[in-house]
Amino acid sequence: MMTTTERRFYIRGGVPLEGDVQVRGGKNTSVAILAAALLCDDPVRVENLPDISDTRLMLAMMEGIGARITRESPSSVVIDPRFLTGVHPDDGMSRSMRASYYLLGALLGKTGEGAIAHPGGCDIGSRPIDQHVKGFRALGAEVDDASPLITARGSLTGAEIFMDCVTVGGTINVMLAACRAQGNTMIYNAAKEPHIVDTANFLNAMGAHIRGAGTDVIRIRGVSRMHGCSYAVIPDQIETGTLMIAAAATHGCVTIHGCIPTHMESLTAKLLEMGARVEDYDDMIRVYSHGAHRAVSFKTQAYPGFPTDLQQPMSALLTTARGTSTVTETIFDSRFHHLDEMRRMGARAHIVGRTAAIDGVIRLHGASVAASDLRAGAALIIAGLMADGETEISNIHYIERGYENIDERLRELGAQIVKR
Ligand code: EPZ
Repeated sequence: MMTTTERRFYIRGGVPLEGDVQVRGGKNTSVAILAAALLCDDPVRVENLPDISDTRLMLAMMEGIGARITRESPSSVVIDPRFLTGVHPDDGMSRSMRASYYLLGALLGKTGEGAIAHPGGCDIGSRPIDQHVKGFRALGAEVDDASPLITARGSLTGAEIFMDCVTVGGTINVMLAACRAQGNTMIYNAAKEPHIVDTANFLNAMGAHIRGAGTDVIRIRGVSRMHGCSYAVIPDQIETGTLMIAAAATHGCVTIHGCIPTHMESLTAKLLEMGARVEDYDDMIRVYSHGAHRAVSFKTQAYPGFPTDLQQPMSALLTTARGTSTVTETIFDSRFHHLDEMRRMGARAHIVGRTAAIDGVIRLHGASVAASDLRAGAALIIAGLMADGETEISNIHYIERGYENIDERLRELGAQIVKR
């Protein structure tokens, strides 16, 4: 939560990033997997968790309803969900985080009931959860979502569910609720993001029977018991992409270790089109860049298209590309606040509806800017790393929701960034 004494990032730009960096576990996977652990009948170990405010908040909400959490290290926890004392996680915490909705799917699947305050999260436009509710109802739950509290109750039976839009959260939440339902569930028009596959793999490691995750039809055969396991979260696709963009933006050379290059194909293709160099290895990507970048155009899309979560960092890079780039945001209706801030740094961007035309300038200059959401904050860091002079970024709590020690890790790559 923001406080008046919140520290800020101060960046002196113009230094090429050089060296090696290890990517952390996926934020959006971790929050789903932590909630999914509630479904288990035994203690379960989750490894490779990023130590960020969103995972800490999720664990605190789970602890609040009786899950016993043992921190083995900053990146590993054991969750014992055998002695839950409630099915209604704290309203204040739920409201401050989008992924709190996964607790409803998991609690409904495990205990047949749950209640959660309407989830909050980054302000990037309207974020309905009608598809989650539709899925729970199809499985036989009675759901009341008319008040500030969403409640769901019922003994669940498998069903055929056609998602009206491709939704990451909706797909995962229905998967959570369905994996202990009686009988078979089919989810059509499912999202295919790496987090869906990772969450399904985790559920299967606990004994669930889920097939087809990563395609647009997911089949689930309900099981009556789920057993303990140890599971390591996959690397963060968006953190990997943010670091790739930062390497290109500073005309540096960065090797990102522990990532999954196949998750990065849409970004890699755009970076190559701009004139940056990208080398893929088994679990490593090297990005380097010399000379000016060319303008490119892209639309955000569900996986394997260009991820909306990289639209903001990528548009920071485009502010100095030669020519006019066109960026169309098709997933969320208000994800261009970062461009308003970057205009203070000399960026030229014209927004009409969901499309931004970005005219490349020679250089950005440092300015005092504010993060309006997590990826807007990441975009401002990239802009600051590119700019002449000093950039001051406020509202960094948004950035710390999703990037572990980002200042420290960028400093190890040579960036002049401090938090004070
Ligand atoms: C997840 O949000 C991520 N959050 C977001 O990450 C990410 O931007 C988004 O997926 C898209 O990839 C988490 O995983 C916690 P959606 P989610 O449901 O699940 C519409 C970040 O920066 N929709 O896939 O909320 C919705 O309005 C963030 O890390 C409905 O209409 O996204 C949007 O237009 C922010 N009804 C589209 O679907 C629904 O019931 C995709 O949303 C659900 C969604």
